Amino acid sequence: MELPKIKILDEKDKTLRLKSKEVTFPLSKEDKKIIDDIITYLKMSQIEKYYEKYNLRPGMGLAFIQLGIPKNIFIIVEEINEEEFRNYVIINPKMISHSEELIYVGEGEGCLSVNREVEGIVPRYARMSITYQDINGNKQEIRVREDISVAFQHEMDHLNGILFIDKIDKKNPFKDKEKMREI
Ligand code: NI
Repeated sequence: MELPKIKILDEKDKTLRLKSKEVTFPLSKEDKKIIDDIITYLKMSQIEKYYEKYNLRPGMGLAFIQLGIPKNIFIIVEEINEEEFRNYVIINPKMISHSEELIYVGEGEGCLSVNREVEGIVPRYARMSITYQDINGNKQEIRVREDISVAFQHEMDHLNGILFIDKIDKKNPFKDKEKMREI
C-alpha cells in the first residue's frame, strides 16, 4: 500500500470552523479520489507496519473539512478483525433519533486534527440513527451504537465546525461523570 498524499489541518486552522455544505450528485472524480485516499490513509494508520514506517497517528475517522474541503462527507474505517476493516462513507448525514443514555470515552477522544492529549469528558449518545447518502447518492439509514456512535457524532460535529475539545468543560473536565457511562 502506498501512503496517500493528504494534508490534515491542525486545530489552529480556522477552516476547521467552517460549516460544511450539502453535497450534490453525481460526485466528481476528484471527490471520489479523496474518499479512496482517506479510506487508505485511515486503514494504514491502524496497521502497525504502516503507522510505524510513516510515523502516523492511528485514527478511525476523517471529515472532508479536515482536508480543507467544506463538504458534508466523512469516512470511518473500523477494524473489525486483525487487519480487516469496515468502511463507512457518509454523505449529507442527518440525525433522526438518539438514545437518552449518554456515554463517554474513558481514555478521552482523539482527533487527527488535534495533535495533543486532551483529558476530559465528551458526552455522546450511546445510540443513534441517521439518514445519509452513499457514494451513488442513494438514501440510506443506519443505526450505530457505542464506539461507532461516538465516532459518528465526532465526525458530524466536524461538519458543523465543532471539535471535541469544545465540548469539554474547561473548569471541570470531568463534570457530570456520574451521569454517563464510560466506554
Ligand atoms: Ni476529529
